[in-house]
Amino acid sequence: MASPSFRTPKGTRDILPGEAERQRDLVNRFGERARLNGFGHVVTPIFEDLGVFKRLGESTDVVTKEMYDFEDKDGRRMALRPELTASVVRAFVQHRPQLPWKVWYEGPQFRYEKPQAGRYRQFSQIGAEVLGTNDGAVDAELIALAWHFFADLGLAKVRLLLNSLGDQSCRPQYLAALTDYFQSRLDELSEQSQHTLQVNALRVLDSKRPQDQDVIDQAPVMVDFLSPDTGEHFASVRRVLDRLGIPYEISPRLVRGLDYYTRTTFEFAADALTSAQNAIGGGGRYNGLAGDLGGPDTPGIGFALGVDRILLACDAEHVFAGSASATDVFIVDVTGGDEASVIVGQLAAAGISASRAYDQRSMKAQFRAADKSGARCAVIIGDDELAAGTVTVRPMQGENRDQTAVGRDTLIEQLSKTLSDIRKTLT
Ligand code: HAM
Repeated sequence: MASPSFRTPKGTRDILPGEAERQRDLVNRFGERARLNGFGHVVTPIFEDLGVFKRLGESTDVVTKEMYDFEDKDGRRMALRPELTASVVRAFVQHRPQLPWKVWYEGPQFRYEKPQAGRYRQFSQIGAEVLGTNDGAVDAELIALAWHFFADLGLAKVRLLLNSLGDQSCRPQYLAALTDYFQSRLDELSEQSQHTLQVNALRVLDSKRPQDQDVIDQAPVMVDFLSPDTGEHFASVRRVLDRLGIPYEISPRLVRGLDYYTRTTFEFAADALTSAQNAIGGGGRYNGLAGDLGGPDTPGIGFALGVDRILLACDAEHVFAGSASATDVFIVDVTGGDEASVIVGQLAAAGISASRAYDQRSMKAQFRAADKSGARCAVIIGDDELAAGTVTVRPMQGENRDQTAVGRDTLIEQLSKTLSDIRKTLT
């Protein structure tokens, strides 16, 4: 067989029927949960001015190495979004909605990463953001939203890692202490981390290189430097999480891969996945971002979850298999095929999914196709039925396989009953 001339670009993949429905189902469940928690749905463009994303961090890989940026035909610097928080805050600044602004989103993100299992150049996120309040209760409620979403999917091996990164009132003192510490052990750090240190000491904590781990493990931690205000905020987040019964681990070196974070930061680790790609979601506060993007000083917090990785975690835990999208009915038309077109349309309009064969195949071939389709019921139309204004309904699953002649005008009614009887015997 000839090999195809084109394949999906490196780091991207086709999501085919079955898996795509499962993904859609997951997104719908998240959207419904968000709606019940008072979030509206927001959709922003897939590309923005490059400047919107610059604030993610001059020392982050996302900005320095992974941005899909390009010049448009008018010479503007644009970028495919690597994440949605910056876009949502840009939209907030542009439209100035009423506070608090609670929104959820879904869609593809683009990062020029080194592809591996669970790490793609195009991947999908679901997420939620709240702008306009600094109340620690919101931090806890957002975390609870994600936590219960995972539980609802059936995921049991998820851990919540929690930290506070402080803010301008205390972060500079911490950064100074951290920089001094790393300087004192500079020789032990990897060459890359020595370089990172010159730009942002916090980012060194993010290094996964084995050579750096011992130095990182003994580094001073932000929670010991929190000001009374940020300390009280962190305590309030933990208090509400305790009240909501959500378990967490304080992870004092969790800095996250983006620079906009202040105060609360968190990540969800799926222990069913290998550690390199076990972050199935993360988020935190970004109280300075709206100001940085030219808006009024407005606190914000949110999270994003990686859809692709969540589904990998579901596979690993054997949960959320997704509903098999079996066709309800297969039409076997031996009168030429036009009637099948009409009946498929009538059934779809009545909410009954239907399929059929094409190219005027033999009755035998059509029945083979009906079997393969997994349809629960066949509707057969031959010349006699056509003349009599009837069809034959034949159940293909369930206990009762008796076929019956049904008038075309009562077909929907009869089929609905037959399908519901089949469903009952299958469950
Ligand atoms: P993030 O940690 O960069 O945060 O991404 C969130 C999640 O997206 C990750 O935990 C992971 O599950 C998934 N993800 C990231 N990169 C990839 C990739 N290359 N392939 C597959 N999945 C990936 C953010 O994006 C922030 N916007 C979260 C946030 C919202 N913070 C505040 N509000």
